[in-house]
Amino acid sequence: MCIFVPSKKNIQLDILKNVISHAKEYGFVFPSSDIYDGLSAVYDYGQNGVELKNNIKKYWWKSMVQLHENIVGVDSAIFVHPTTWKASGHIDAFNDPLIDNKDSKKRYRADVLIEEYISKIEVKIEKEIGKASKRFGEDFDKEQFVDTNPRVKEYFSKIKSVSERMNRSLEKEDLEDVKKLIEELQIACPVSGSKNWTDVKQFNLMFSTKIGASADTATELFLRPETAQGIFLNFSNVQKTGRMKIPFGIAQIGKAFRNEIIARQFIFRMREFEQMEMQFFVPPGDQKKWYDTWKEKRMQWHLSLGIEKENYRFHNHEKLAHYADAACDIEFKFPFGFKELEGIHSRTDFDLKSHEKHSGKKIRYFDAQRNESYIPYVIETSIGLDRMFFAVFSHSLKEEKLEDGSSRTVLKLPPHLAPTKVAILPLVKKDGLDEVAKKIANSLKNNMNVSYDEKDAIGRRYRRQDAVGTPYCITVDYDTQKDNTVTFRDRDTMQQKRINIDSIIESVEYSDF
Ligand code: GAP
Repeated sequence: MCIFVPSKKNIQLDILKNVISHAKEYGFVFPSSDIYDGLSAVYDYGQNGVELKNNIKKYWWKSMVQLHENIVGVDSAIFVHPTTWKASGHIDAFNDPLIDNKDSKKRYRADVLIEEYISKIEVKIEKEIGKASKRFGEDFDKEQFVDTNPRVKEYFSKIKSVSERMNRSLEKEDLEDVKKLIEELQIACPVSGSKNWTDVKQFNLMFSTKIGASADTATELFLRPETAQGIFLNFSNVQKTGRMKIPFGIAQIGKAFRNEIIARQFIFRMREFEQMEMQFFVPPGDQKKWYDTWKEKRMQWHLSLGIEKENYRFHNHEKLAHYADAACDIEFKFPFGFKELEGIHSRTDFDLKSHEKHSGKKIRYFDAQRNESYIPYVIETSIGLDRMFFAVFSHSLKEEKLEDGSSRTVLKLPPHLAPTKVAILPLVKKDGLDEVAKKIANSLKNNMNVSYDEKDAIGRRYRRQDAVGTPYCITVDYDTQKDNTVTFRDRDTMQQKRINIDSIIESVEYSDF
């Protein structure tokens, strides 16, 4: 008899498929231009998705701007003067190394192929650790095992040598060696299985367009690939008009566009997406201190959502971007493993200095304490809003077995991010219960997002609310008419209690289930 044991990859694929179909079925995320069979790596947010997305934005803005007296916001245009991208280095260096498989005709990012090779070795290490942990039981010392086991040591040294060589070659733009590495590692095309590769070529990720009426006078513009440059261009405007004193920050939420080559994995890598970025301006020499501070602060922001710590980790960059003297990612455990969720970069004075040079305008700050004028250094925190949405959504989606043997699909979103805070449900749609329920719903609308539902049996309505992540349900029944109380149900525990109608707002805001 053949027993099918699903591999880790198959399980991950199933989870991802489940996330995508749930997001569509319940009005969170739709493929863009769905009736024309979609547009690759472009998505629309539906009636529930837009609420969740707006709540994530509010949560970020509140913690970064409202709660920091030295951080202010801007909303800069998507189009900027084209010289911006020359100054920022995007025209010359915002490239991905591409390689094509000659048999499948599929295109890949060469560095991603090598990183996937490394990930496979990491999986092997995890397997060895798992086996040893079972063998030694409680006496297992993971650190000692990793330091001494010959096979694991060999795996680690392979990872080190491969990633060092890849980083070195990419830094030197030695694309011939990147191809050689792919061949030496015998990396095969995931589609055709063949190792018949083209040369590696650089590909610029910016989308270009034209501004102006006639072909001869039109100027080439780029859709911004990051929101950060709009902040740099406004540094002096904000600093002077806001009388800002260093250290201070400028935050922005807005769309960015990249012609991504590998546009897979749902809303993880999109061609049109949103970023939430903050540039923190500090005196030269203080950048390391502030880099460490923002690393810590940003991790705390993620943890304060209540998602368990083991889902996050730092990944310090060895290969630094052209503008950085230190950089790391906060990685999240997505359905397909740990991947970048947010970047924290110490960007030096690269951007402001370069804009000063290209524009011919002084971009300086006079520091009264130091009695000197300088170009500030910058610490940047940059998180993809869509990626944050994906992280929260995929982590919250649970399939639960219930005591009576049935199961439920529940979206355990952090309550303050949920699209709807409370659903008002009349037990039956008659005897005036529906009217009382509608009145309650109307009275709450000014304070929170409310949904009213009177269709189907109450159990089915609870399940519907569970599936869209509504943290609380209020049921109006015959006792409501007698004593002005309602049933208050908690999404996560499914416990219910009676509360007075007058205390609904308080119960939703400060629920103690
Ligand atoms: N200003 C710095 C910057 O843009 P980045 O690491 O290229 O740095 C920052 O991007 C964040 O933007 C990433 O951590 C990710 O969350 C998000 N991001 C980048 N490219 C993306 C894409 N194609 N689709 C969705 N999110 C993306």
